[in-house]
Amino acid sequence: MNSAPQPPADQLERALAALLAARKYRSVHPGLARAIVSTELAKGRSLKEAVKAAKNQLHQSAAVYMRRNLKYDDALSQLQTAVSAAKNEPDSLAHGDNAAVREHLRRLMSAHASTFERLPQLDTFYGQLFKQLPPVQSVLDIACGLHPLARPWMPLPPDASYQAIDIFADQVDFLNSFFSIMGYAGAAVQRNALEDMSTPAADIAFLLKTLPCLEQIETGAGERLLHQIDAPILIVSFPNHTLAGRKQGMAQHYAASFESLISNAGWQAQSLTYPSEQVYIVHKD
Ligand SMILES: C[S@@+](CC[C@H](N)C(=O)[O-])C[C@H]1O[C@@H](n2cnc3c(N)ncnc32)[C@H](O)[C@@H]1O
Repeated sequence: MNSAPQPPADQLERALAALLAARKYRSVHPGLARAIVSTELAKGRSLKEAVKAAKNQLHQSAAVYMRRNLKYDDALSQLQTAVSAAKNEPDSLAHGDNAAVREHLRRLMSAHASTFERLPQLDTFYGQLFKQLPPVQSVLDIACGLHPLARPWMPLPPDASYQAIDIFADQVDFLNSFFSIMGYAGAAVQRNALEDMSTPAADIAFLLKTLPCLEQIETGAGERLLHQIDAPILIVSFPNHTLAGRKQGMAQHYAASFESLISNAGWQAQSLTYPSEQVYIVHKD
């Protein structure tokens, strides 16, 4: 996304500083912020207009999905308390199966629109999905949001590895603490999926409700990423409605273009329909 002519360096630095000074964007991936601001300046916009347009891009592709601000430290100390209590219970289950731990994770997932919309189906979503998959030992979750918090609901072996990427540093730190408290072999990393196309190898890669966000910033980026991911199976989903709940033919629109992409690539796919989204299990081999 950096092929456009570069704006003057001092103008770019000032615009970038103004963007990153906003509370909402101070932990966003700096390389992504720089690329977006640079593209906006290269369109001939004034510094003020370019910062405004860049904020709008980051809002539409990422920040809009946060339904409320999470206080990460409080969330983690409450999780630690629930996990410690679970360990002390007689005949304790693995703490991912503990009701109080799960209730806390559900509350946390409700802070992000994508996981919030999945909550009503959480108890059946992954059972239905993983039934269609061979044994999975490693997971990659691209543009993950708070989706790794659903790890206890996924029928994975206890030692399965889970690698997650997103653009907000504070969210990534939070997810790393979550993995550590829960004792999962997981790691979250701040990465820009539009640029860092070399992803770690995994048995499956989740791209849940992700492609429209990437395409909003760069047309064609989604397809490029799908080809580059080093995983034989991709779990790709598209929303069935807007954040405001309007359908506007979204499901049909995404289905038509994604099914043509799969067929052009020579991949096989099956699809599962959930109220929150249309999920495709794509076999690249
Ligand atoms: C619609 S949400 C989906 C979240 C999650 N996959 C889920 O379904 O629960 C889109 C996510 O993409 C992330 N995102 C947007 N642009 C990105 C980029 N360039 N690289 C990595 N993540 C990005 C946002 O921060 C946000 O968490």
